[in-house]
Amino acid sequence: MKKSRLLAFVLLSFALLSFAWVPATVSAHEHLLSPDRILTVAHRGASGYAPEHTLASYKLAKKMNADYLELDLQMTKDGHLIVMHDETVDRTTNGTGWVKDLTLAEIKQLDAGTWFNEANPDRQNAHYIGQRVLTLDEVLRYFGKRENYYIETKKPDLYPQMEEKLLAALKKHHLLGKHTRKGQVIIQSFSEDSLLKLQKLAPRLPKVQLLDRNQMTSITDDQLDFIKTYAVGVGPNFRALTPENVQQVRSHGLLLHPYTVNSEADMTRLLQYGVTGLFTNFPDVFNRVKASL
Ligand code: G3P
Ligand code: CA
Repeated sequence: MKKSRLLAFVLLSFALLSFAWVPATVSAHEHLLSPDRILTVAHRGASGYAPEHTLASYKLAKKMNADYLELDLQMTKDGHLIVMHDETVDRTTNGTGWVKDLTLAEIKQLDAGTWFNEANPDRQNAHYIGQRVLTLDEVLRYFGKRENYYIETKKPDLYPQMEEKLLAALKKHHLLGKHTRKGQVIIQSFSEDSLLKLQKLAPRLPKVQLLDRNQMTSITDDQLDFIKTYAVGVGPNFRALTPENVQQVRSHGLLLHPYTVNSEADMTRLLQYGVTGLFTNFPDVFNRVKASL
C-alpha cells in the first residue's frame, strides 16, 4: 500500500473508532445523570474484596464495570489531597497519626494493604501487601478520562482550600468543563457549606448532598427544595429509606444514591423503592442484581 493511502487508512480507522467508542457501561441514550440510569458506585473501590482506596481496589472496581469510583479526600500537612476515609492513618495503614500532621512523603512510606489481609483471613491475597496510599492526582492520572469519579470532600472544615485544590486537580486532568462527559465527575459531601462553595466555584459540576440517618428520616419538602438549588441528588444512609421518602425525594427531581448497601436483599428492596443507584463495596453483586430485575 502506498504511504499516503496507508496514512489515510490509519486516520480513518482512528476517526471511526473514536466516533463509535462509548464506555461499556454508558448507554448512548441515558447519560450518567439520567434518572433512568441505575448507577453502581464502587464505594472506596471494590473495597469488599481489596483494601479500600488502593489501586488494587480501584482496578478491581473497573474490572467489575462499576459506573463510578468513589473517593474520599483528606489533606496532608504539606497540602496534598490523598484518598482516604479516616482523618488518621491508623485503621487502613501500618502507621499512626493524623493525616493533617503527616507529610505526603511520610504517608507514602506506609503500607495500605497488609491490614486488609489481617482483617480478612478468608480473602488473603499476598499482592495487597505493599499497596500505597494514593493521591487524588495519582488516581486521576492512572484512570484518566476513561473512568467516572464520585468524590467526597471529607472534613472540609479541617482542610483549608480543599475545594480549590480539588478543582485544580480536575482541571489538570481535563475532568472539568465542557469536554467532559455529563456526570463524569460528581462531588459529594455531608458538608452543605462545602457544596455551596463548590457551587459558586464550579456551578456546572454536579453535586450530591450526603445525609445521615437522622437527617434523611426527618427531611422536609422545604429542605429538599433548597438542596435542589445546588445539587442533582442526595446520598442518604440506606437504613433511613422507606418507599414513601424515596418517592418524596424523587418527586423533587433529585437523584437518590444511598450508602452503603452490601447485601443482595437490601439492593433488591431499594431498587423496588425507586433509588437511582447506590454505593456498594461489592459492585459485581449490584451489577448482577440490576441485571436480574
Ligand atoms: O460517600 C457515601 C458514603 O461513603 C458516606 O459514608 O463514611 O463511607 O464516606 P462514608
Ligand atoms: Ca464516602
